[in-house]
Amino acid sequence: MTIQERIAALGQHVNEMKAANAAELEQLRIKYLAKKGEISQLYEEFRAIPKEEKAAIGAPLNRLKQLYESRLQELKEQIGSVAASAEVKEDLTRTPDPIVLGGRHPLSLVREEIVDIFSRIGFTVADGPEVEDDRHVFSLLNFAPEHPARDMQDTFFIEKTEGEQRETDVLLRTHTSSVQTRVMLNQKPPIRVLCPGRVYRNEAISARAHCFFHQVEGLYIDKNVSFADLREVLLYFAKEMFGEDTKIRLRPSYFPFTEPSAEMDISCDICGGKGCAFCKGTGWVEILGCGMVDPNVLEACGIDSKVYTGYAFGMGVERIANLKYRVKDLRLFSENDVRFLEQFESC
Ligand code: PHE
Repeated sequence: MTIQERIAALGQHVNEMKAANAAELEQLRIKYLAKKGEISQLYEEFRAIPKEEKAAIGAPLNRLKQLYESRLQELKEQIGSVAASAEVKEDLTRTPDPIVLGGRHPLSLVREEIVDIFSRIGFTVADGPEVEDDRHVFSLLNFAPEHPARDMQDTFFIEKTEGEQRETDVLLRTHTSSVQTRVMLNQKPPIRVLCPGRVYRNEAISARAHCFFHQVEGLYIDKNVSFADLREVLLYFAKEMFGEDTKIRLRPSYFPFTEPSAEMDISCDICGGKGCAFCKGTGWVEILGCGMVDPNVLEACGIDSKVYTGYAFGMGVERIANLKYRVKDLRLFSENDVRFLEQFESC
């Protein structure tokens, strides 16, 4: 092939050049335009051509070189824009996806609110084990040996000893009063503690009952503590928790560890006390149990009941949360459904 023919052939080829990436493009540049490339080779040969022929070949050769250079430039730009469009996914200037923050669990919110209200009047928080023994959950709290709360139907036993050796039975605590016995055994009055925590009872799971729930119990022991003190503290709590207009009423009740014992109702804040479906027409809803610590309990825990008196109260956190947030099905609290949880205050 003469040099003219080779220039013409290469000229027809130029648009067939394709490069998918920078490496392929470089291959093309080496093949045609680098020192040993085909076009550079033509320039080498061009030098040896007689002067009078040079004009006829030099111009097409220069054009050929320009054609290849501009085609390679074009390919370079294409590759560049493909690379750029691949980068769009990682564009650091775009608006970020919203960061989903975790929320506080409604039971945590309510527990913290209860603790906060009582801590303002000097209560501190005490903690204790969920796996307990009969002694701390029942015996020290004046439960008679055959008290039904010890029965298999209520308590989850982990190790149940045969015969009379009940005190060493290992079980899941049925109330956080067990933390109160631990505090009484280990501290001298004055004692002013709150015991929040999870408790377990052997109940069938339904919208209204669960085999575990949460409590906050309180204990105050000092000289001259009276039932009137208890009532004032509970009234303060009810107003702080449910609003200034809340009224309370105490109904006589029974717990083995308090004497006298009472259950406290608050005025129904849905109907304002007129009576509605929520309060079953009574105008009142029950929220906690309370009473004066039975002298037997004080003595069993090494506190002189002639010198000291005290009061105790205990409430279910789910119950308070129901009143605050109107959650109809208890099971929602432990299912961890984000659609439920994200309705509450986020972090
Ligand atoms: N411990 C009781 C319960 O689990 C509640 C309670 C606490 C009642 C303190 C009176 C005093 O139901």
